[in-house]
Amino acid sequence: MDTDDIRRLPKAELHLHIEGSLEPELMFALAKRNGIALPFPTVEAVRAAYEFSKLQDFLDIYYQGAGVLVSEEDFHDLAMAYFRRAHADGVVHAEIFFDPQTHTERGVPMGTVVGGLASAQRAAEAEFGLSSKLILCLLRHLDEDAGIQTLKQAEPFLDRIVAVGLDSSELGHPPSKFAQAYQRAGEMGLKKVAHAGEEGPPEYVWEALDILKVDRIDHGNRALEDPKLVERLRAEGMTLTVCPLSNLKLCVVDAMTAHPLKRMLDLGLKATVNSDDPAYFGGYVGSNFDAVSEGVGLTDAQIATLVRNSFTGSFLSEAEVAARISSLDQALRA
Ligand code: ADE
Ligand code: ZN
Repeated sequence: MDTDDIRRLPKAELHLHIEGSLEPELMFALAKRNGIALPFPTVEAVRAAYEFSKLQDFLDIYYQGAGVLVSEEDFHDLAMAYFRRAHADGVVHAEIFFDPQTHTERGVPMGTVVGGLASAQRAAEAEFGLSSKLILCLLRHLDEDAGIQTLKQAEPFLDRIVAVGLDSSELGHPPSKFAQAYQRAGEMGLKKVAHAGEEGPPEYVWEALDILKVDRIDHGNRALEDPKLVERLRAEGMTLTVCPLSNLKLCVVDAMTAHPLKRMLDLGLKATVNSDDPAYFGGYVGSNFDAVSEGVGLTDAQIATLVRNSFTGSFLSEAEVAARISSLDQALRA
């Protein structure tokens, strides 16, 4: 399948941090709108700073960038820019992470964040027919009580939020640190996902499964180091939201030719392809398919499986999944 064929396939994106879709041009525009000084003189200087050797290098610059987001309109504009790019890549459904603590810690209310994202969700549905859901991520470098407080602040907005997630600095912050918070999220009726096995060891993936009782694993690359864990993930049909360009930029893999995606599929794992933080890692979901497909030589059947997994691994209803798969099958025949 070539680039255009891949973009024509209707697909879901399940691993996208909305703050990670902040392109430098919009960062500058919002900084100007809000009278915020950026530590970079130009858009080019910002892009030149995007050289990372590990997750934390990226996170430091990502949290700094998010500081330009202040008003409901800012969050609306951010999400609308993502939806436009996603639509161009054939995304018909997106399950979007947001990091409320990055904003509430600066005095931006939860309602401002969710309000702006929600108005963009409605606009994307109307303009592009693109459906979406929000996933509230807890920052794992902060303590569990702060996470529980954040869940409480989200209570008025639960109609928009489908799941809880766990992101930020993985090493030293195992899933077990958030056992109570995830228990609470479950009681609130939320689905559960967690970043695990991006930089962290297979043990963190076990904890996400056994202690947090997650419905999906975000990344999961390092699960491949543990055959028993691979068998567990395979037997449960656990969805892995894999992010090839992110893995390359954050040195989780040495080269795209060494990316484990094909191996995951060969092992019977339910992998999907996603963009993570596209403004920082060099491309949206279409580019992630292009890069990994070229790197490891995916067959057309494997690409179709990855796209099918994006729907069956989503939090859409069974009827919605069936409808999306039927239009995917139609596109595959065409
Ligand atoms: N926050 C945004 N992107 C992330 C990633 N790839 N891993 C952990 N936390 C993140
Ligand atoms: Zn991520």
